[in-house]
Amino acid sequence: MSDIKKIKDEYLAKLNEQLDLNLINQIKTDLFGKNGLISNQFKQLGKIPEEERKKFASDLNIIKDELQNLIAFKIEEIEKKEINQKLEKEKIDITLPERPVPQGKIHPVSQVIDEISSIFSEIGFSIEEGPDVENEYNNFTALNTPDNHPARDMHDTFYLDEKKELLLRTHTSPVQIRTMLNDKPPFKIIAPGRTYRSDSDQTHAPMFHQVEGLHIDKNINMGHLKGCLNYFIKEFFEVDKIKMRFRPSHFPFTEPSAEVDIGYEVKNGKIIIGEGDKWLEVLGCGMVHPNVLKNVNVNPDEFQGYAFGIGIDRLAMLKYGINDLRAFFDCDYRWLSQFGFDPIDVPSSYRGLSR
Ligand code: DAH
Repeated sequence: MSDIKKIKDEYLAKLNEQLDLNLINQIKTDLFGKNGLISNQFKQLGKIPEEERKKFASDLNIIKDELQNLIAFKIEEIEKKEINQKLEKEKIDITLPERPVPQGKIHPVSQVIDEISSIFSEIGFSIEEGPDVENEYNNFTALNTPDNHPARDMHDTFYLDEKKELLLRTHTSPVQIRTMLNDKPPFKIIAPGRTYRSDSDQTHAPMFHQVEGLHIDKNINMGHLKGCLNYFIKEFFEVDKIKMRFRPSHFPFTEPSAEVDIGYEVKNGKIIIGEGDKWLEVLGCGMVHPNVLKNVNVNPDEFQGYAFGIGIDRLAMLKYGINDLRAFFDCDYRWLSQFGFDPIDVPSSYRGLSR
């Protein structure tokens, strides 16, 4: 048997054994590499007598093609097998239900701020904002709060510098000043936001929320104030009737000043707003003091009006039956998933943890 026939038989047999890609590549090199068995046969061509050369070359080419085709076929076969195995292993079952996507919740305080803003917007109030870091003038002086007023005591106020010129606003009332200094009357605004006092117990947190209201125009009187607050409380608590009382009080920036209580009763451990013989304080208010108007260049003989300040956290607790104020600021997701609100436009299947 000629050399090339031997090579052919030996390697056809080898290629039909169980092979992996590495072994096939090894065979390819053995045959067709630089010093491969077949490559060497081609190098011999010149030495073969002329009369045999043609036949030899033709046989060699046939054998070369046969081996190369078989190698290519085997490689393809192995690659196909590997792909199929991989597909089998990594199969995705698209009939499985989707995994829930964790979705955040709207904090009750944010929800209540939205509700308050929309109620007041409907009766013509626009929404203003002011910074949490205020100056002493806007927070106190311009609001007719004299130097010796207890609200200025270090005990209540977080001052930010030694001269006590910068502070964390202790109420939202400075937004009244900012609004009136920036524009000309009439004014009809509310200003919700964060407020700070150095005070912490079961019903007080050092950071809390208020909404300020201010309505200044010609001939605005206390009747307007009462009507406005009565409307707001009824809308907010979603009741038709509300028992309300105005108790005389004192704020430096209003004259006269009042605190407003609303009636409630406790039925089966639940607070029912609007009826009953118990009273709950919800806000402070009054007619804006002429000195405040003068401080912002508004003529008190021409323009008058009312202002009010409402504690938002308290309202949220009352409306949604939350009895510990501190839970608002604990950042506990389990609490939020119970008391938080879903955004209106989220499909239920995306609510994930909230279900
Ligand atoms: N700023 C007051 C406070 O934090 C609340 C308040 C009372 C605001 C009367 C007002 C008002 O605008 O007229 O206690």
